Amino acid sequence: MTTSEHPTTLCTALFASEIRAGLSRPGQKTLPSKYLYDALGSTLFEAISLLPEYGLTRADERILSRYSREIVRHVPTPALVSELGSGSGRKTRWILSALCEREPLSYYPIEISRTALESCESELRDIEHVSIVGVEREYLDGLREVAALRPAGAHLLVLFLGSAIGNFDSGADARFLRQVRSFLLPGDSLLLGTDLMKPLDQLLQAYDDPLGVTSAFNLNLLVRINRELGGDFDLRQFEHVAVLNEATGSIEMHIRSKRRQVVMFRHQEFSVTFAEGETIWTESCHKYTHEAIGELAVSSGFRVEAQWTDEEWPFAETLLLAH
Ligand code: AVI
Repeated sequence: MTTSEHPTTLCTALFASEIRAGLSRPGQKTLPSKYLYDALGSTLFEAISLLPEYGLTRADERILSRYSREIVRHVPTPALVSELGSGSGRKTRWILSALCEREPLSYYPIEISRTALESCESELRDIEHVSIVGVEREYLDGLREVAALRPAGAHLLVLFLGSAIGNFDSGADARFLRQVRSFLLPGDSLLLGTDLMKPLDQLLQAYDDPLGVTSAFNLNLLVRINRELGGDFDLRQFEHVAVLNEATGSIEMHIRSKRRQVVMFRHQEFSVTFAEGETIWTESCHKYTHEAIGELAVSSGFRVEAQWTDEEWPFAETLLLAH
């Protein structure tokens, strides 16, 4: 795999400024969920996907393993494939294997985590006739680069699997898809995975599992800030919380301060005060309805070409066509 890199110092400066902005703002403190995925965070997310209470990843894999051949029948040749947030790459294997039965293929996974790019490459390198070019970038910067590499006449298939779209704030999902659309040509396609709404009890178990893996995944963000920005978060004085926001249809993950406390950031020369019970909002996990997926597609410049769903754990893979 070849990888295009971002200088580490730039990444750290951006990380520091986003953390500072999120923790200093008046009202609800926030941290961007993309920072959950350092090496340990990515490993903890892999562990979450194995939990009996968290069926999302298995549902996505069931759909892709059963229907990949059918899905790729909707994709014209020649094609190149790019994926926004490839993770381990395990799910992508089905689609790439189906596509390379027709022609040799270039695959461009886009990730801000180098660890994830490396595990994606080791997971997929045995597939014959697929050349993997890792892109270590934010999603849209990466997609802009990939779109510029497209040979004349080639079709671009973008994969956005695993309901990662659900981790955007309310309304930001459509804005993001419109930006994705702006890099595509009419007739290009986007395969979009979305978790569907399900009973509250099931959702709370999935995002606050009894083994505490999701809690570790969430609190690891504080570990990362301590390590990379010289923070002095005392992890034992914070706890993981998952709640349903009924107005938006999202599970929200927060980190709650167990007492009043001040956290210092030595490398950044600032400090943040937490009241007892005050939370940092770290992630939204939106749950969709079929109607909402259709509206999202239309409002961002796509139309629904086809859809496949899992019955065991309601989840949808939707193939959208750019028009
Ligand atoms: C990556 N994403 C789709 C997961 C989700 O379910 O929204 C992230 C996650 N957060 C806690 N558990 C899993």
